[in-house]
Amino acid sequence: MLLAIETSCDETAVALFATSRCLAGSLPQPEDLLAEALYSQVATHQAYGGVVPEIAAREHVLRLPILIDEIFAKANVTAKDVTIVAVTSGPGLKGCLLVGLSWAKGFALAQNIPLVAVNHIEGHLLSGEIGLAAEYQYPCLVLVVSGGHTELVLIKSFRDYQIVARTRDDAAGEAFDKTASLLELGYPGGPALSQKATTGDNRRFSFSVSSKGDPTLFSFSGLKTAAWRTITAERDANGNLDEQTRCDLAASIEQGIVQNLIDKTILACKAFQPKQLIITGGVAANKTLRSAMSEALTPLGVAVYAPPFSLCTDNAVMIGYAALRTVATNPPAYRNWSGTKNSGMLGPNVPASLGATPRYPIEQIAPQELK
Ligand code: KG4
Ligand code: ZN
Repeated sequence: MLLAIETSCDETAVALFATSRCLAGSLPQPEDLLAEALYSQVATHQAYGGVVPEIAAREHVLRLPILIDEIFAKANVTAKDVTIVAVTSGPGLKGCLLVGLSWAKGFALAQNIPLVAVNHIEGHLLSGEIGLAAEYQYPCLVLVVSGGHTELVLIKSFRDYQIVARTRDDAAGEAFDKTASLLELGYPGGPALSQKATTGDNRRFSFSVSSKGDPTLFSFSGLKTAAWRTITAERDANGNLDEQTRCDLAASIEQGIVQNLIDKTILACKAFQPKQLIITGGVAANKTLRSAMSEALTPLGVAVYAPPFSLCTDNAVMIGYAALRTVATNPPAYRNWSGTKNSGMLGPNVPASLGATPRYPIEQIAPQELK
């Protein structure tokens, strides 16, 4: 069995998978997932209006062992049944990454089993495959939109990743959260803002961003400033906003962010002719984004898919899945694992000195990790 651990930000998550299919060289299937558990720290960080890294790391220390016990009990197994451990090594908050990584390294050394270090974004990139229960049709474009990421990635084949657009300033989720905060909608404000937007008029205000800009760069800081100016101008003498104006602002802001994402995605589709466009990350929960993206891309012959929400937000299933993809690509390295406690190796090409990597662009995932 493979135990997967995710602690890169404010979600503590673990998952347990059967490995026999992947050790035979086949792709993981939904029935390989045996158990999963997740603890979201959102409530803890709400009071601060954002994730406090040190608090998040301490919560991981407390929660991780409890969650691991929980999935072992759910699957009726013990630590001895685990034959591979997978863990997010980056990108993310350093202290948070260190909790999961240190636990996984200690476990791998104690049990003398291989460790697979997983790039968190690669987990997001592959989450559509889990939802579809099928390998992507290449070339495939993936839009990763979360509180920390806004990246459009072209996948030409497994592990052949090319970032075709990224954000020059804020992430899309940050744009939702910051403008929601201007509208006093709490944290994280994306869901509340999109809820308000449902009863608002998205044409009352214009927060459109020119699509003539650099096709390789998203940008949301201009929209944020424009939203701040408009919100300030719309307040009455007592500084209050009337409820309909608040809803119209929410709808217009949502429209601006979504249109920005769609415009650059259309340019990328025209340039790279993908067969599929996968939307993932927390912002993929946004219904306007999903439906407007489908409407825009279907005429271009691109199938749009967003996995279930639980796979879009941070989770350990996507980390385990990415690790199993690695295992399936080179099964003998894992099947005939012959590491010893003194070998200084935690797994195929993973040195014991492996550290947490807060900055870990996906282009840096070494193709040789597959050899
Ligand atoms: O992937 P995620 O759970 O955490 C990370 O950032 O890693 O994404 C959270 C982000 C937040 O910025 C949140 O406001 C945004 O996703 N979000 C939404 C919606 N649901 C979550 N943004 C817009 N509309 C939503 N329905
Ligand atoms: Zn994430």
